[in-house]
Amino acid sequence: MNAPSSLSRRRALKTLFCSSAWLSLNLDSRSILEATEGEVLDLLMIGDFGTSGTDQKKVAAAMRGFCQENKITPETLLLLGDNFYSAAKDGFSIESERWQNTFEDIYPASVFPGPCPAVLGNHDYHDNPGGEKVQLAYAKKSGTRWTMPAKWYRFDLGPKESPLVTVIALDSNFPAISGGKDKKSGKPRGCLTEAEVAAQHAWFKNELITERAPFTLVMAHHPLYSNGDHGDTKPLVEQWGPLLQEHRIHAYLCGHDHDLQHLELEGLHTSFVLSGGGGARTRELESDRKMPYGDDVHGFTHLRAGRETLVFSHHDAEGKLLHRFTKRLDGSFEVARKSILKEPEHGLI
Ligand SMILES: [Fe+2]
Repeated sequence: MNAPSSLSRRRALKTLFCSSAWLSLNLDSRSILEATEGEVLDLLMIGDFGTSGTDQKKVAAAMRGFCQENKITPETLLLLGDNFYSAAKDGFSIESERWQNTFEDIYPASVFPGPCPAVLGNHDYHDNPGGEKVQLAYAKKSGTRWTMPAKWYRFDLGPKESPLVTVIALDSNFPAISGGKDKKSGKPRGCLTEAEVAAQHAWFKNELITERAPFTLVMAHHPLYSNGDHGDTKPLVEQWGPLLQEHRIHAYLCGHDHDLQHLELEGLHTSFVLSGGGGARTRELESDRKMPYGDDVHGFTHLRAGRETLVFSHHDAEGKLLHRFTKRLDGSFEVARKSILKEPEHGLI
């Protein structure tokens, strides 16, 4: 089955939100943490964070506060790309100071014991030539939580004998997405080669027919669908969209747009979660199709995974809950109404 075209998306989203398949719950910001018992895992995720600037520090402080306040020790911190912005002054290497001030210190092991699985964003290829190789090499350093065994890889979370979640990490920097020439220098920009795109695709298809945990997440930097500044990414919709649907992937996690979003498309099994508020300057959403949610704010995303449900929560740079939804094994979802939210146009109904 093919994914719907972006042209039909608005109608599809509107239809979805008028249908009885969509439910809302009235939950306050704490209730899900207190109500969920038994075997659960907590994950945090951010994208578009690697500036070393004030907003990255503010979001990181909110993440630390959230974990401490709720007595959460995250199983992993998922890093959704654009991990390092701008050229490092003295060249980017595994010895660069930026590893300390953009990753190790700002997300300390005392709060995030790791691992911290990362995928590559366009800035990771472009801002420091060969930067993707440095990020792969740093992951081999002993003692680091930085996890990037390859440009694409898989890991399972939960008990080894019965994992809860399979995560498939992909590199979305296709030549058609991140290639071309640099506007200033005119030099070719770094990205995957066509051979790598083909190899990744074959690997991805094989992983999808291999035994997986009850829940499967796919993470990559670029969105398939987005109401943000960059919009939809057609090559991913075309190449990955049918696979996500056929293999009933529960959620696709990404960044790239500098905002927080949760999109649902009628007929698709996958929920689309965009967490691009980790520190880079936010950008206004380009569309009013905030369905169920989208806002151009800094922040992070928390996921609590259980045997029956995935609960995703977007939080702002103060740690305040902005949006929450529950995804079930069968693909259905429920959006939580947050009673204190006063502006329904922000997406919570
Ligand atoms: Fe990006």
